Amino acid sequence: MCTASNASEGSGTALEPLKLEPVERVRVTVLIDNYGDVFAPSQGPATRKHLLSPTPNPVMNGGATLVPLVAEHGFSALVEVETGSTRRRLLFDTGVSPGGLAHNLSLLDINPLEIDAIVLSHGHFDHTGGFAGLVERYGSHNLPILVHPHAFRHRRLRSGNGVIDLPTPSRRYFEQSGFQVSEAENPSFLLDGSVLVTGEIERKTSFETGFAGQEAEIGNGWIPDPLVLDDQALVISVRNLGLVVITGCGHAGIINTCQYARYLTGQSKIAAAAGGFHLSSVRDPIALAQVVEAFEDLDPGYLMPGHCTGLQATFAMMERFGSRVIPSLVGTTLTLG
Ligand SMILES: [Fe+2]
Repeated sequence: MCTASNASEGSGTALEPLKLEPVERVRVTVLIDNYGDVFAPSQGPATRKHLLSPTPNPVMNGGATLVPLVAEHGFSALVEVETGSTRRRLLFDTGVSPGGLAHNLSLLDINPLEIDAIVLSHGHFDHTGGFAGLVERYGSHNLPILVHPHAFRHRRLRSGNGVIDLPTPSRRYFEQSGFQVSEAENPSFLLDGSVLVTGEIERKTSFETGFAGQEAEIGNGWIPDPLVLDDQALVISVRNLGLVVITGCGHAGIINTCQYARYLTGQSKIAAAAGGFHLSSVRDPIALAQVVEAFEDLDPGYLMPGHCTGLQATFAMMERFGSRVIPSLVGTTLTLG
């Protein structure tokens, strides 16, 4: 068990970089992502498990079929940090469907009862829906959940197709299920100071403009809420390698997020950036090129784009960075250190 400690209390500001405890090794396992491929090979520092679960199905002779890891529009990752003989585990997001994450955890033989803490990247339903299956399969959880307060905002999305109500996570559900909800807007540390949760991320680039069309219900009305200020990332410092930055949807912009991680920690080397980079909806090829160009300057060791990054942006990154780009297929484990 662990509790979140607020980095703004006694740990200095970014002018005095936050002291992020380095780890010897980090493992990021993609538990839920938009994409799966049961034939994709392991790649560089990333291994891929091809697991099949025997499942009853009357269509088949013998009454059973084989079901792989579930891919769905959403994101969830298991983040494991190791120092010496100590290994700590953190769950980052839970995917979209009630049962997808629970299915994949079972198939990957990961016991959620061995997880030390949960962080929600933001409140969108494709990152928070999988709690239901966790609770149903494993019972109530006496685990801390770290989240930005805006994650509980009731939101809707206005587009050319009309207005879509966005399902909102219920703080009451979490608490009734035994979780300890901790809200923070500022940077926080978890797992003995080895994981930095950014809190709100500074928006500095001109080409990362947030989530157009999102509105939030405040009081009796709706206000534009394109910035998704609840969007936060995880930052881990791997000894002798640099920072590993993990985003959920990357609504703050993946470049803003990487730059903010550097700003907070005072460390410049990005060993890897992984997760949703939120480029799928970018229609402006110039903005997309600017992101790739900015990655050139950041010079990350690896990119593991997934979820809402989109194929066009992923291909653009692969074209520029070659084998340093590792698609975030469900079941992929990136190990650094
Ligand atoms: Fe998302």
